Amino acid sequence: MNIRALVRPNIRALKPYRSARQDHLTGMLLDANENAFGSTLRADGLALNRYPDPLQQKLRARLAALNNAALDRIFVGVGSDEVIDLLMRTFCEPRVDDVVLLEPTYGMYRVAASIQDVRITSCLLDSSYQIDVARTIASVGENTKLVFCCSPNNPTGNLLRLDDIAELCRRLHALVVVDEAYIDFARNGSVASLATTYDNLVVLRTLSKAWGLAAIRLGYCLAHPTIVSLLLNVKAPYNINALTNDAAMRALDNTDVLQQNIENILRERARLMAALAVLPSVRRVFHSDANFVLVRVDDAPRVYDFLARRGIIVRNRSSEPTLENCLRITVGTPDENEALLSALRDYTA
Ligand SMILES: Cc1ncc(COP(=O)(O)O)c(C=O)c1O
Repeated sequence: MNIRALVRPNIRALKPYRSARQDHLTGMLLDANENAFGSTLRADGLALNRYPDPLQQKLRARLAALNNAALDRIFVGVGSDEVIDLLMRTFCEPRVDDVVLLEPTYGMYRVAASIQDVRITSCLLDSSYQIDVARTIASVGENTKLVFCCSPNNPTGNLLRLDDIAELCRRLHALVVVDEAYIDFARNGSVASLATTYDNLVVLRTLSKAWGLAAIRLGYCLAHPTIVSLLLNVKAPYNINALTNDAAMRALDNTDVLQQNIENILRERARLMAALAVLPSVRRVFHSDANFVLVRVDDAPRVYDFLARRGIIVRNRSSEPTLENCLRITVGTPDENEALLSALRDYTA
């Protein structure tokens, strides 16, 4: 596929900013107007007075190794939200191009498109919240640049079928962006291994969920090297700060903690789902491959307010298409889940 043909003309023609640190990371650094006398803050082993590596070579190499991918297929962003925004700005011409959203889904795709004044074509997932391939393909027009698939999907919680995503990649002349923010909570089902087969597949990942690092703001994507180099041209020169970089490098070694957390969350998810299913106020507990559970209740705003008055904050997703009276509940610690269940047992319709 000719990826460059999908790129906005001004980005194709862009002469990107070249930052000082791109050429030399070491030496007598008198090139970037930093403070040579040092930083006002001490941070072990980190020269906070210096700009960080704009190309994040070490972190990208570490993520590449983790994903069994080449370094030139990894792009890192300030959370996957930055990657979503950069994809919009790189590929979508405001007021001309459009993106297809498979709804109900994660709200930031719509927000990022709206900020960029990019048209949105909404296409519903099927009644099992899987991709309706025919309907999706029919929604894609000449100016569609991105099709967002979220797997496991937020807020419904289910994985999308791999074969359907592969078919979209084969049949569409657009990028198929698969957001795998929650993939670590699913036993399998990642499309990452297809990224070398389909040039138009972009897989989004984040350290905010299973890795437990939402505060450091680090996400990344696995994609064709042409897409990665375009995103590198468009991003702010030093998007990943040294503290985030350092925290991520250290955390990525802690795979045993990651596995333990995943196991704890999966165990609690199963317990929570079983307990929710027998509550009189709960109409339906949806299948989950993520670290949250979608439930349909009798009266979502009322249940939401009842829980909030007890200091328990969940997400009311009722206004999303097909999600009438649905609440999204994050799997908490055993104590938090017990408090939630106990509150719901006290709730009377
Ligand atoms: C599906 C999905 N993608 C991306 C994100 C954002 O992740 P990040 O913290 O990496 O920006 C979220 C956050 O809730 C999400 O649910």
